[in-house]
Amino acid sequence: MNKLLLPRLETKRLILKEISLLDIDDIFEYASSPLVGPNAGWKPHVSTDETDEFIKYAIKKREYGQPGIYAIHYKEHNKMVGTIEIHTYKEYKAEIGFVLSPNYWNKGIMTEAAKAVIIYGFEILHLSRLAYGYFLFNERSKRVCEKLEFTFEGILRNKFKNYDGKIIDEGVASITKEDYFGGKVTWVKEFKQAFKVDYEGI
Ligand SMILES: CC(C)(COP(=O)(O)OP(=O)(O)OC[C@H]1O[C@@H](n2cnc3c(N)ncnc32)[C@H](O)[C@@H]1OP(=O)(O)O)[C@@H](O)C(=O)NCCC(=O)NCCS
Repeated sequence: MNKLLLPRLETKRLILKEISLLDIDDIFEYASSPLVGPNAGWKPHVSTDETDEFIKYAIKKREYGQPGIYAIHYKEHNKMVGTIEIHTYKEYKAEIGFVLSPNYWNKGIMTEAAKAVIIYGFEILHLSRLAYGYFLFNERSKRVCEKLEFTFEGILRNKFKNYDGKIIDEGVASITKEDYFGGKVTWVKEFKQAFKVDYEGI
């Protein structure tokens, strides 16, 4: 199966490049926090063995026709601070998902990373639909969704089985190619002024 392109993306404060085993310590640092995984549906890591397994799974995804997972590097601190991916990819549609180290919350970092990945989704992967799912209790994620100008579609009841076995509702929103190219998503033009795609730096 041909691998999809996963070029390095650069924004004002961030570099997004494919996750690697070199990221293990930075990932374990935040993945072991109870503030991170439970807001995204997974159990905090208790040992770096779990982090190692996650990274290997993330890299392997590309062999099964998925775009793969970006590691988010915060340039100023030369540190890997989170991950973001386009997942559940199926030719014309996919979903976006991400997590960030709590030390870096509320600085607009995930909104900046997600803008880069949305551009990648529509202009490089040629998606027709990009969905954004979030748990209703996750106010931060809901806010990021609004800032990115996803259109709310509704609540999918009993959509997700959590790691603790609980079945929970999920909010869903989307951007379509018509929204993206038709100007409904208003941040694209300005954001591109400080955005680079680097095919050599994969
Ligand atoms: C959700 C997450 C990615 C957000 O990343 P971030 O870089 O902090 O996001 P941003 O700074 O771009 O935006 C966060 C927004 O939430 C707002 N916010 C913070 N705490 C909030 C709260 N308790 N209630 C409502 N809004 C809140 C911030 O003020 C900010 O909005 P603003 O820019 O209008 O002020 C990060 O919190 C995270 O990794 N959480 C754990 C994992 C997770 O939830 N992943 C998403 C799964 S769908």
